[in-house]
Amino acid sequence: MNDKVMVVSGGANGIGAEVSARLAGEGARVVITDLNGAQAEARAAGIGAFGVACDISNPEQCEKAAQTAIDKFRRIDGVVNCAGISKPHDSMTLPPAEWARMIDVQLNGAFYFAQACAKRMSETGGAIVFITSTNAEAAFPRRAAYCCAKAGVAMLTKVLAIEWAEKGIRVNAVGPAYVATEMTLRNIAAGNVSETQIKARIPLGRLAQPADVADAVSFLLSEKASFITGHSLYVDGGWLAYGYF
Ligand SMILES: NC(=O)c1ccc[n+]([C@@H]2O[C@H](COP(=O)([O-])OP(=O)(O)OC[C@H]3O[C@@H](n4cnc5c(N)ncnc54)[C@H](O)[C@@H]3O)[C@@H](O)[C@H]2O)c1
Repeated sequence: MNDKVMVVSGGANGIGAEVSARLAGEGARVVITDLNGAQAEARAAGIGAFGVACDISNPEQCEKAAQTAIDKFRRIDGVVNCAGISKPHDSMTLPPAEWARMIDVQLNGAFYFAQACAKRMSETGGAIVFITSTNAEAAFPRRAAYCCAKAGVAMLTKVLAIEWAEKGIRVNAVGPAYVATEMTLRNIAAGNVSETQIKARIPLGRLAQPADVADAVSFLLSEKASFITGHSLYVDGGWLAYGYF
C-alpha cells in the first residue's frame, strides 16, 4: 500500500475504522469519511490519516469528499465503502420513510460514493471494495430493505466492474456475516438477534472480527488481486455454505 491513497466511507467506527487502521498500517495515505465528521477526524488523528464529514446518501457531499482527497493527496487509488445502518422492522408496518432511508444509505449511497471517487480515478485506475453482507444472498425476516439494498450492491459490483474495467478500475465486494462491531452489539442489545444463535449458525463457531474483514479488503485492494473484479468475497465462517438442519 506504500503511499497509495485510500478513501474509506463510514471509517469512524466498526469495520471502516478497522479497515482504515489496517490500510494506514500498510503504508497507505488514508482519508476517513463519515456521517459523523468529528468522529472521523478523531479516528483519523489516531492513525495519521485525514478525516472529513460526508453523508454518502448525499451526492454533493460525496463529490466534496472525493475532491478533498484529490486536493490533499492529488490522486485516489482505492475506495472502501463501509458506511451503513441496520434497523430491523416488521415489513407489514415498515414506514415508507424507513424503507427509503435504508435504500438511500445502503444502495444509493454506495453508488454515489463510488461514482464520485471513480470520476477522479479514470486516468489512473485503482480498486473499489463495497462492504455488502451475507444478506446479499440470504434472506432474513424484518430486514427487507437491508437485504434488497445489499443484493443491489452485489449486482452494482458486477455492473461497475465490467463498465469501468477499461479505465483500469477493479470493483469487488466483501460480504461479512455477523461482525463484532457496535452495529451487531446494538442488534444483540435490542433483542433482534442472540449471540448464542449466531455462534450456533456459523460453522466456524464465532462472530467475525473486524480484522477478518480488513484482511479480505486489503487483499482485494492489493496487486495480489490484480485479475479479480466483479467478485463478492463472503467472509462468513461458512454461513452461506451451511444448508443442514
Ligand atoms: N456488523 C455486522 O455484523 C455487519 C455484517 C455484514 C455487513 N455489515 C455492513 O458493514 C458496514 C459497516 O458496518 P459496521 O458494523 O462497521 O457498523 P458501525 O455502526 O459500527 O459503523 C458504521 C459507520 O457508518 C457511519 N454511517 C452511517 N450512516 C452513514 C452515512 N449516511 N454516511 C456516512 N457514514 C455513515 C456511522 O457513523 C458509523 O461510523 C455496513 O454497511 C453494514 O451493513 C455489517
